[in-house]
Amino acid sequence: KPAPDCTLVIFGAHGDLTKRLLIPALYDLKVSGLLPDRFRIIGVDRAEDTTEGWLAGLTAMMEKFTQDPTAEFYTPKIDETVWSWLSARLSYARIDFTDAAALKEFGGAIDGNVVFYLAVPARFFSPAVEALGRAGLTEEKNGAFRRVVIEKPFGTDLQSARELNSRILAVLKEEQIFRVDHFLGKETVQNILAMRFGNVIFEPIWHRDYIDNIQITAAETVTVESRAAFYEATGALRDMVPNHLFQLLAMVAMEPPASFAPEKVRTAKQTLFESIVPVRPEDVVRGQYAAGTVRGRPVAAYRDSPGVAADSDTETYVAMKLEVRNWRWAGVPFYLRTGKAMSNRIAEIVIEFRLPPLTLFPSADHAHAPPPNRVILNVQPVQGVTICFGAKKPGPEMRLVDVQSRFRYPDFFVREPNVGYETLLYDCLCGDATLFQRADNIETAWAAVEPVLENWQAERTAPELYDAGSAGPRGADELLARDGRKWHPIDGEI
Ligand code: BG6
Repeated sequence: KPAPDCTLVIFGAHGDLTKRLLIPALYDLKVSGLLPDRFRIIGVDRAEDTTEGWLAGLTAMMEKFTQDPTAEFYTPKIDETVWSWLSARLSYARIDFTDAAALKEFGGAIDGNVVFYLAVPARFFSPAVEALGRAGLTEEKNGAFRRVVIEKPFGTDLQSARELNSRILAVLKEEQIFRVDHFLGKETVQNILAMRFGNVIFEPIWHRDYIDNIQITAAETVTVESRAAFYEATGALRDMVPNHLFQLLAMVAMEPPASFAPEKVRTAKQTLFESIVPVRPEDVVRGQYAAGTVRGRPVAAYRDSPGVAADSDTETYVAMKLEVRNWRWAGVPFYLRTGKAMSNRIAEIVIEFRLPPLTLFPSADHAHAPPPNRVILNVQPVQGVTICFGAKKPGPEMRLVDVQSRFRYPDFFVREPNVGYETLLYDCLCGDATLFQRADNIETAWAAVEPVLENWQAERTAPELYDAGSAGPRGADELLARDGRKWHPIDGEI
């Protein structure tokens, strides 16, 4: 059903996020009939522009998506009716969003329900919220809502996250704040909860008695590209771990919530985060890509990339072992890894089960015990679930081979246009905070990685180099070899 009538004010109208993700997602929401008739989108930014100018840029962008089906965020051919419906509701306002007086004047023209979307660099988060507060625009009058959406990165460590929370919570109530982690907008990520708690066949074996270890991978082929200014100060750990990878971890490891109500889900997640033992620096491997070839394309070393210091020791890869200390997971290691310029783009969670108590059947190659059962949650680019188990190889002998049973989204569902932000935007317009981060979720996640950040800061350890186009540094393999384990290959077929 359509979201309630409201005005969406986007701070950062000229930014990449707005053009590449928010506008296409709004388009898709309209296609699905989920936007209200009385809906307005006001783009706010500091640059000189007009509504016509802004709209022309957005139209060109949408057309580009249309013409390039290989683009990552491909939107099918623009439907003129949908686009003109949206265009008629778009306007541009040139305002410095940290200037309370200017915002106050701007606020005179809007009333009722308003969502302020901060699609701006992180340094503007609290100044913009404070300016909104001073301008009186965050006050909820006559039953109308005022919400603020805040993008990543939410802080750069525990202290900065706490500061940011306390500054915005001085202006807004927690229910008014929607902290985005876009991994939660991904269908396959939401499906993890559906799979675990909407079925009976998984949950009975989803614990330490049956599971040996869990591996969470988000490998990327992209390099630092033009993001050096952001990435140099951030690195792979801050960019991906306490946010995206921890969301995957929460989905796979949290206890069943009492209901699917936002606070129940966020509390279940919080309980899980509180059970993570602060990561030991010796359980972490940091890497940085050297020159290499990614999918046939030569890639310069990270240190030779534009905007990157020649002696930079920012990590572009990180792998770690986590311990979750609770009854369900005690003794089950969680291995997490993420990196740029790797051989394959793949995000997945591999749940590796224990071996059967007894080896009754030899494997087909005689030499090895049959591999353990695995449930693989394929997040992207393949979307689905893969279950690997041993089956008898046809023939007179009783030999086992590893086979796979695969569920793939396109085999069951008509693919709907989706850039990943539709759910997040719609939920926020409807006030459903289930897929957004609560203040404590964010702080507890930062607290878990804090010892590592402190150790890196103190020791200034250089990252281990890995070739661009490889599966990461050798140290990452050693991290698992120490425990007698191996990473699930990122270049496999599955
Ligand atoms: C962003 C990170 O939050 O997530 C990027 O800043 C990363 O560095 C991206 O590439 C990955 O998201 P996705 O949806 O492309 O897998």
